[in-house]
Amino acid sequence: MRGVSIVGAGQTSFGEHWEKSFKELIAEAGIKAIDDSGLARKDIQAVYGGCMASGRFIGQEHIGALIADQLGLNPIPSTRLEAACASGGVALRNGYIAVASGLYDIVAVGGIEKMTEVSTEDASFALGGAGDQETELFMGATFPALYALMARSHMKEFGTTEEQMASVSVKNHKNAVHNPFAQFRTEITVEQVMQSGYVASPLKLLDCSPISDGAAAVILCASDVAKKMKMDGKAVEIIASTQASDTLALAHRHNLYETRAAKIAADQAYKQAGIKPADVSFAEAHDCFSAAEIMAIEALGFCKQGEGGKFTEQGNTALNGAIPVNTSGGLKACGHPVAATGVKQAIEAYLQLNEMAGKRQVRGAETGLTHNVGGSGATAVVHIYRRL
Ligand code: COA
Repeated sequence: MRGVSIVGAGQTSFGEHWEKSFKELIAEAGIKAIDDSGLARKDIQAVYGGCMASGRFIGQEHIGALIADQLGLNPIPSTRLEAACASGGVALRNGYIAVASGLYDIVAVGGIEKMTEVSTEDASFALGGAGDQETELFMGATFPALYALMARSHMKEFGTTEEQMASVSVKNHKNAVHNPFAQFRTEITVEQVMQSGYVASPLKLLDCSPISDGAAAVILCASDVAKKMKMDGKAVEIIASTQASDTLALAHRHNLYETRAAKIAADQAYKQAGIKPADVSFAEAHDCFSAAEIMAIEALGFCKQGEGGKFTEQGNTALNGAIPVNTSGGLKACGHPVAATGVKQAIEAYLQLNEMAGKRQVRGAETGLTHNVGGSGATAVVHIYRRL
């Protein structure tokens, strides 16, 4: 296996993009990423594009072909990957595998979702497809409801409080203020979270990631080729790429308070990179709901099982904390156009490791980690990064 590096990155802002089409979002992110790499379109040998539910959201399928066409990349192979909210992370991993194996030297990886063209009810139904249709979606369980069950279980098992969960959202909104691409660039307080209405108890509006539009793209290059082509100025190497699976249905899980696939993927990633959780300088974790970030930081080994709520409330995951988590604003405040998220997380790692994150820069950042989850934890993808 060869080393693989990110040599270019680009994204649209996340939010409601009624003025831009699906194709325009792809073009904006893709062209920015190609331009950032300094490469020409002819240098790109394949495309891996994550997209969860474009058929339901905008009536468009065949996204692989659409991306190549839109970016003027025909006739190279271009493939869509779907793993619910982990579609972007899985696309990144498949692009990584293609380059690491020696099949290609340079590939483009993207993630796209346009979710705001349908009503919240229709978006909830489309997102519900990430869970088990028979025992969850068709029984009326939306994603806030499924994560509410997990949050309740964590509260019951470990005494985690709603205020501790609120502190995740407060921190992520605070970070998003400094992210020009974020959907919500306003600070909020624990009191505001507590007073926002229940969506699925104990999760309130401000515990939830929003429904968003957006696209993100990166260019991957074999590290030796990047060095030879003198593209290593900003190159960030992916030093671990792992993925694990768990049961689709919550009802079949061992318990509801931990995310096993994420823990397995994280353990394997640390082994692959030859590092420990304490060596990570910052992480982008999949905070689709505030409680999910608490379970994520436990699975990633940043704190002990059951202590994620307290760990967050004490400021350990803040920008100036022991392990800054979601410097981009996370899914909560940066927005969550589902398949774009996993790629946007990689872009945040690229920016942080190049000291290009502006006011949300983590001082002395050396090693970054991203954690992208599909469904209620059935797919988990972890990547670890360092400057080449
Ligand atoms: N955080 C902060 N503000 C939010 C928000 C969120 N998650 N969602 C909506 N808002 C704001 C909107 O900006 C809007 O503000 P405005 O009145 O000032 O313009 C207001 O709340 C109402 O927005 P609306 O779109 O009508 O909200 P909604 O009630 O239809 O949807 C949720 C709110 C929480 C139900 C929806 O965002 C949701 O389903 N989120 C979860 C998405 C999800 O499951 N993703 C997959 C995760 S695995």
